Amino acid sequence: MQAPTSPHIPDPPDVNVLPGIPSVPDNLLLTDSFGRKHTYLRISLTERCNLRCTYCMPAGGVELKPKDHILTYEEILRLSGLFASLGVTKIRLTGGEPLIRKEIEQLVSHLAQIPGIKDLAITTNGLLLSRKLKALQTGGVTLFNISLDTLKEDKFIRVTRRRGLADVLQAIQDTLAAGYNPVKINAVVMKGFNEDELVDFVAMTEHQPIEIRFIEYMPFGGNEWNDGEFMSYQDMLQTIRQSYPHLERLEDGPQETSKTWRVPGFIGRVGFISSMSDHFCSGCNRIRMTADGQLKVCLFGNREVNLRDMMRGGVSDAELKVAIYEAISKKKAAHAGMYDLAVADNRPMILIGG
Ligand code: 5AD
Ligand code: SF4
Repeated sequence: MQAPTSPHIPDPPDVNVLPGIPSVPDNLLLTDSFGRKHTYLRISLTERCNLRCTYCMPAGGVELKPKDHILTYEEILRLSGLFASLGVTKIRLTGGEPLIRKEIEQLVSHLAQIPGIKDLAITTNGLLLSRKLKALQTGGVTLFNISLDTLKEDKFIRVTRRRGLADVLQAIQDTLAAGYNPVKINAVVMKGFNEDELVDFVAMTEHQPIEIRFIEYMPFGGNEWNDGEFMSYQDMLQTIRQSYPHLERLEDGPQETSKTWRVPGFIGRVGFISSMSDHFCSGCNRIRMTADGQLKVCLFGNREVNLRDMMRGGVSDAELKVAIYEAISKKKAAHAGMYDLAVADNRPMILIGG
């Protein structure tokens, strides 16, 4: 008797294959339709902040989500491990202010041990950094970006609506003393507010391995952006060149969002983040997790995927991978122009996480 022909048994499905979804190998799951490979994950740890920066926080504050809407450390570690297994090599913790989240030191030491994670960075306003620096360094933080928009006390209070300049300056010194090189400082440049301080910031790079990064002011839900306050990269350059005519451009990697310059002879560097006047979307390698567990593939897009509820609903890693793949494959080539963004429906920056 002839053996019954066995029905074709398909290979066991790749972990990322679910009904109706094309099979994509794991190592391509984070590559979008424009060939951009996403290796950099930014995770917001909290929507709360101990400052109230005008460019980030709407004047009336933001409605905070109940605590149980925020991802737990276990959830963050699960997602980070998953992303790392798909090719993410760099994680940055943002907020709100990440250092106000309890026991961040513990989270950091777990994240640093995830196989494949080579860089673990934190963006902080610096207020609590001096206090936590040692533990974070021991835990494996490789890079700090400290936000500071002005070197003057009265202006610091005006932009952050709080006190604290001395603490931030101390944090910068402590981070340098701890051996970080470079220590990056993020300054959002606003015409009529701090354009007169660009040169003072550049002067800080003379003897210290500081990279001052001047960021074009971006419109977000609820901030007070108007184009009168907007100062472009080109205008910043022009202003700085009046004092430092020999400022020279350095080479940047293809996925570098910052255009890097240096004053010859200075040990630090000067970067410009021209997200508005010359966006860097074509080299974009970043994805973001909001504190409440929404995956955002573009800082300016309002599309979000709720990975938190998926996880709490008990999905498998395979199902998470499919959701992540779907979101990434729909990523657009570039964000809208400056004026469209100003009226676009997006979260305030404090709820996205720088
Ligand atoms: N424009 C540009 N950068 C912003 N950030 C927050 N809001 C804005 C904005 N409207 C960035 C700043 C800050 C970090 C936390 O997020 O760099 O240092
Ligand atoms: Fe990438 Fe979106 Fe930012 Fe453009 S706007 S660089 S696509 S995250």
